[in-house]
Amino acid sequence: MKLAVIGTGYVGLTSGVCFAEMGNDVICVDIEAQKIEQLNLGIMPIYEPGVDEIVSRNRVAGRLQFTTDIIEAIKASEIIIIAVGTPSLPDGDVDLSYVHTVARQIGSCMNGYKVIVNKSTVPVGTADKVREIISNNLVDKTISFDMASVPEFLKEGSAIEDFFHTDRIVIGVDSDVAKNLLVNLHEPLNTNIQVTDIRSAELIKYAANSFLAMKISFINEIANIAELVGADISEIAAGIGSDSRIGRKFLKAGIGFGGACFPKDTIGLVKTAENLGHEFKLLQEVINVNEYRYRTLINKLEDELQDLNYKSIAILGLSFKPNTNDIREAPSIKIISELLIKYPKITIKVYDPVAMEAVKQELGDKLYYCVTLQEAVFECDAAMIVTEWEEIVSFGLDNYKKYLKQPVIIDGRNCFNPLEASKLNIVYRSIGRETPVNNLKVLERL
Ligand SMILES: NC(=O)c1ccc[n+]([C@@H]2O[C@H](COP(=O)([O-])OP(=O)(O)OC[C@H]3O[C@@H](n4cnc5c(N)ncnc54)[C@H](O)[C@@H]3O)[C@@H](O)[C@H]2O)c1
Repeated sequence: MKLAVIGTGYVGLTSGVCFAEMGNDVICVDIEAQKIEQLNLGIMPIYEPGVDEIVSRNRVAGRLQFTTDIIEAIKASEIIIIAVGTPSLPDGDVDLSYVHTVARQIGSCMNGYKVIVNKSTVPVGTADKVREIISNNLVDKTISFDMASVPEFLKEGSAIEDFFHTDRIVIGVDSDVAKNLLVNLHEPLNTNIQVTDIRSAELIKYAANSFLAMKISFINEIANIAELVGADISEIAAGIGSDSRIGRKFLKAGIGFGGACFPKDTIGLVKTAENLGHEFKLLQEVINVNEYRYRTLINKLEDELQDLNYKSIAILGLSFKPNTNDIREAPSIKIISELLIKYPKITIKVYDPVAMEAVKQELGDKLYYCVTLQEAVFECDAAMIVTEWEEIVSFGLDNYKKYLKQPVIIDGRNCFNPLEASKLNIVYRSIGRETPVNNLKVLERL
């Protein structure tokens, strides 16, 4: 099939290249000329394991093109996939301006029947609005088209794997022609295809992300209680997660959810409900619990070192999760920004395997950007683990002890065993599992 994917970001690029890998002819479009130039040179604009190989294989096979020419891409394609950003507006509403712009462009250059698929995460009713904009901009009013909603569920860091081994595909349609085309497109993925109406498909995406965010905020609240009573959150998560009604995933206590989706989608759904006259109290509380969750790490660090002025702190792992360079809504940025404001004389050394450049663009020269993990940790008063990259975990407690000036590790991702840290005389503070010494402190307070 002939596809145009409009927006070549995390979603557009990964889904576009995967559709090409399945044998379709795909044109990926973006307005950022530099991004397209780089892609045409084989340079990936994002870090996503496996994408570069699939890009080069499919470009050689002639199935994949990158362009800024949206008009030609639309004319040449039967299915148009919209994958542009839908960020939050300051009041929490979803900014649909990018989607609407694309709709106008599609309308103005339609040259025959097409199916317009919304893959961006958009509030219920957006497909109707996009349909209206396209219709209003059609030059030839006799041309017909169908709208569809096929939400994307991939996870950054494992997007390729997720695309080819997804749990389900949700296809929201209101015509048989669109249904047949889209079912045929996705059928080779050999997974459960749920065909539904467009509004349900739009809401499924928000409901899924909000549910997962709720699990995270829930386990983080239980972690708070575990710390107060000296219990171990990993045991609790295993105990409840092995109940198939609950499930093990998204029960890892930590420093809260970040990234390009959960924060904006939870707020977006609360706002959508509010606009409809419904107060979504449960989801609002999920957001409230998450908002200052990153401070847990700062509190633990202050607990150990008190005044952080004139102290050197290694902040390790900057992307919002491992295996991506995405720092949108990353807890690392919030932690660093707060530390810099509160302690003007603090020295912050940072390390991340792939997100350093993105952080440099955001925070500039206020930090020391280290080339290696060892350099970051060397002679620091404490190491704070914010994102659990494999390299940061496999560095091992011995090495942290060897290179730190003082053996203090504040771990926001529970990478190590507290008992092993205690045997090495490391002051180790993690989430929802205090070391025996800290347990005593906690118990004394009870
Ligand atoms: N990132 C994720 O993990 C993820 C997962 C599922 C769904 N989503 C949703 O998918 C959508 C895209 O997210 P993303 O993370 O890929 O965003 P992104 O910011 O990485 O990419 C969006 C791209 O669209 C381009 N763009 C904007 N306007 C354009 C136009 N008029 N024509 C062509 N290109 C244009 C931008 O230049 C950018 O490259 C969002 O709605 C998001 O919520 C994201």
